[in-house]
Amino acid sequence: MKQLQITRPDDWHVHLRDNDMLNHVAPFTAQQFARAIVMPNLQPPVTTVKLAVEYVDRIINAVNNDRFEPLMTLYLTDDTSAEEIILAEKSCFVKALKLYPAGATTNSSAGVTDIRKCDAALAAMEETGLPLLVHGEVTAPEVDVFDREKVFIDQVLMPLMNRFPKLKIVFEHITTADAVEFVLNTGLNIGATITPQHLLLNRNAIFKGGLRPHNYCLPVLKREQHRQALLHAATSGHRKFFLGTDSAPHTRDNKESGCGCAGIFSAHAAIEMYATAFEQQNALDKLEAFASFNGPDFYGLSRNTETVTLERTPWVIPDDYPLASGETLVPMMAGETINWKLIQ
Ligand code: NCD
Ligand code: ZN
Repeated sequence: MKQLQITRPDDWHVHLRDNDMLNHVAPFTAQQFARAIVMPNLQPPVTTVKLAVEYVDRIINAVNNDRFEPLMTLYLTDDTSAEEIILAEKSCFVKALKLYPAGATTNSSAGVTDIRKCDAALAAMEETGLPLLVHGEVTAPEVDVFDREKVFIDQVLMPLMNRFPKLKIVFEHITTADAVEFVLNTGLNIGATITPQHLLLNRNAIFKGGLRPHNYCLPVLKREQHRQALLHAATSGHRKFFLGTDSAPHTRDNKESGCGCAGIFSAHAAIEMYATAFEQQNALDKLEAFASFNGPDFYGLSRNTETVTLERTPWVIPDDYPLASGETLVPMMAGETINWKLIQ
């Protein structure tokens, strides 16, 4: 196949950051996707509709592209009130709440310390239909970093679902066969996003020939058997699985450090990397469902009407992108050749 035309995709999980970084990365996302669910883990986090209104304005300025629609999320804290949930639902542009367990990942110190503290907010979400997006990892120091997702399912997600059976939940950036199986065995109110890195890389990529900080993200890459399970889920066409890049830019200095940040920047070639993964599975015919249909269907939004075309033209991903500050941003697959190119 030389060309592939699909309905314009959406990104159901992206970090656009703020200021200089926002100005650099947001146009990449807007160029590929019609809509994107924007994560609220700024410093300080986007915890209220008022802060989200201000942030969405900064995003719209940064992308300068009328075709692109940012969909906003609020950062759930121990103190999020039911009133804030009602305001969010009424706002029409806030589409979800994001649960970060406190300390789980980048800028999550304001995260939830005990999910039971959020009962009032969760009840209001269940009532209004606003989904909860979960970073599905426990942070207890005694839990092995590779087991954090599985333990989260047992200790947090299952009890949460039992207490709020109608709550819509997106299990974000799933990384294990356990998560795939869990999602498949639950009702239609539970969906999951999958990133390009978890489809294309296993945990060996973090250690190939030396320590590779640009392949470090959270949840951390897992064993090959888990990658295979994710590939099967994504390419099955099953409505519960949809595209969420988790593109999470950090400057080169913050990645190549004695304590490097978690996050992989993938917005520069996201749909091309997904196409690469689907092609490896001989499943390019399933890309459109995963990238363009299952997400809006889950969120109860209309599907996009325009299309994009991918062409099988190899190109070399840049080693880095310059930022206005003089710093640089290293993209996923830096310096590597990729076979697909978004041409319009
Ligand atoms: C994200 C970030 O940098 O904001 N990092 C990451 O590794 N994915 C946070 C997150 O989604 O965990
Ligand atoms: Zn994320």
